[in-house]
Amino acid sequence: MNHLIFATNNQHKVDEIRSVLGTKFNIITLKEAGIHIDIPEPHDTLEENASEKSTTIFNLTGQDCFSEDTGLEVPALNGEPGVKSARYAGENRSFDANIEKLLANMAHKEDKTARFRTVISLMLDKKEYRFEGICKGRIIPEKKGENGFGYDPVFIPDGSEKTFAQMGMEEKNQYSHRKKAMEKLIAFLNK
Ligand code: IMP
Repeated sequence: MNHLIFATNNQHKVDEIRSVLGTKFNIITLKEAGIHIDIPEPHDTLEENASEKSTTIFNLTGQDCFSEDTGLEVPALNGEPGVKSARYAGENRSFDANIEKLLANMAHKEDKTARFRTVISLMLDKKEYRFEGICKGRIIPEKKGENGFGYDPVFIPDGSEKTFAQMGMEEKNQYSHRKKAMEKLIAFLNK
């Protein structure tokens, strides 16, 4: 079995990615690798932040690893919250506070379209490779559903009438940005 460190402290992401990977690859979380750091996300793009996370962990461990950075990109808000998705309502703010700010900013916008974009950065044999996954959809004016995390309760992917928060993990994976990026990563690792 191939071991890969996944450079995240977000357990939701770990669960989603483990559900996609199956048994061929073993994901080791930062916690399991004994690494207790908050990885910085100082940059203006998902690509640079993903690279920052994977290279930080590679430099600490010398081991193959990957990271991902995801943002919700809304055209009516000039691409915001985008790379700031986790901190949209301010540093250390909750998912609920971020959703509230998003819904307030969207209230009078006609264009409700949005997309999630995930960038994965893989460090393998000291080289970096990147993979992208996009899920298009729309923002609804009030929260629906209890599952998932982040903006899931207000995002409906194209092709569904349910928010991500109304779906189980398998159903979310039929549409998910993260799953699409992971599929590219897996195809690359299987080559
Ligand atoms: P990061 O990739 O950990 O920086 O995530 C940024 C933020 O985007 C998270 O805090 C969530 O609010 C949001 N986010 C990332 N992935 C998802 C998702 O799959 N569903 C809903 N929100 C997400």
